[in-house]
Amino acid sequence: MVEFIWAGYIKRQIPFVASDNKLRTAVINEIKKNYPEYKTMCEIGSGYGGMARAVARGCGMRVTALENMPFTYFVARVLDFVSGARGVKTLRVDAFKWLGEYDGVFDIGLAYLGAGINDRLIDYMHRFRVLFVLDVPMSNMVPVRVVDIGGGFTRYGDKKYPHKLFIYTK
Ligand SMILES: C[S@@+](CC[C@H](N)C(=O)[O-])C[C@H]1O[C@@H](n2cnc3c(N)ncnc32)[C@H](O)[C@@H]1O
Repeated sequence: MVEFIWAGYIKRQIPFVASDNKLRTAVINEIKKNYPEYKTMCEIGSGYGGMARAVARGCGMRVTALENMPFTYFVARVLDFVSGARGVKTLRVDAFKWLGEYDGVFDIGLAYLGAGINDRLIDYMHRFRVLFVLDVPMSNMVPVRVVDIGGGFTRYGDKKYPHKLFIYTK
């Protein structure tokens, strides 16, 4: 609740929405089908870490999960611990600041953020071989592929975004 109110006051922050099983399965299937040799992922805005743990478990990837909300980060760390998650490193950082200082390249970047905030990812494309964006497309890049996940949507503000996976490369 406190975070929800806080989020309302932070300009680029979005209300918290955790990914559902459908989104997690779609991401795992996409990796297995088209990027089976990829081994590292960076999740930009990882929330409680459900997606990060699912990808680490489902694809055997090493996932760096970036989350800036203190309480959400705390819960994610507890869940990482109690679920015995392997391959997930959760950091409490501003993802964009962190990526600006990072000097490596992840095989996959993954973002499930909101309209506007996703557009900021254009400045960090060199940090990913491929970028997955869920539901809300970037308005400043053209995806190389769009996977229709089918059924369900994410609501941001008064707009509904049907479940889709947008795939971008630089
Ligand atoms: C829609 S939730 C997605 C949660 C998670 N990816 C999932 O699939 O369950 C977006 C998350 O991004 C976080 N977030 C937004 N902007 C961020 C930033 N600049 N740095 C780190 N985390 C951020 C929010 O706090 C929120 O937990």
